[in-house]
Amino acid sequence: MKEEFIHRFVPGHSNRTLILLHGTGGTETDLLGLGRALDPDAALLSPRGKVLENGMPRFFRRLAEGVFDEEDLIQRTHELADFISAAAERYRFKQTEAIAVGYSNGANIAASLLLLRPGTFFGAALWRAMVPLVPDKLPELKRAPVLLLAGDHDPIITPDNVRRLSVLLEQAGADVTLIFERAGHGLTEATIEGTRRWLGNLESPRTTA
Ligand code: MLT
Repeated sequence: MKEEFIHRFVPGHSNRTLILLHGTGGTETDLLGLGRALDPDAALLSPRGKVLENGMPRFFRRLAEGVFDEEDLIQRTHELADFISAAAERYRFKQTEAIAVGYSNGANIAASLLLLRPGTFFGAALWRAMVPLVPDKLPELKRAPVLLLAGDHDPIITPDNVRRLSVLLEQAGADVTLIFERAGHGLTEATIEGTRRWLGNLESPRTTA
């Protein structure tokens, strides 16, 4: 497959596919259980980030915590977008019915995909995301649903940074829901429950006017 990533694909029983993007140090198996808990019927596609930081997989290089290597980020974003398109053909799922679910570094590359390669998926649930980059030209996100679940005392991401991401995505036309949880950088039950509810309320793109 073009732009191969180590990955897992678990077939589902509905048209929806969740694209699961792990955090720093995660692997392709990390989020499979959560993905299944979020939507028992969805197919699951879970790639492993190709960059290693002290042996820990990530989706792109960083220069320091929260300081990204933008050139690498841009290249890796396109590489991941190409992989997802190739996976959609191989496993026969529709990208217009796919939802990215990303945590931390995985949420950041999902945000970058929204900004640089709109159309890679229909919408995204981003857990503990920050502004990955500001594109020269904003994409047309055509009311793509985006859920931002942030921690109100996240030691890595300031509330201001998440708000800037929210504004950027809204300016690009996304339908953004931003929620601050009483949490740090780690996931909580509220994160999972909030995402499950948000997914349950999403209209399929085919039924959207
Ligand atoms: C990142 O590098 O994407 C963020 O700092 C989050 C992290 O992976 O810790």
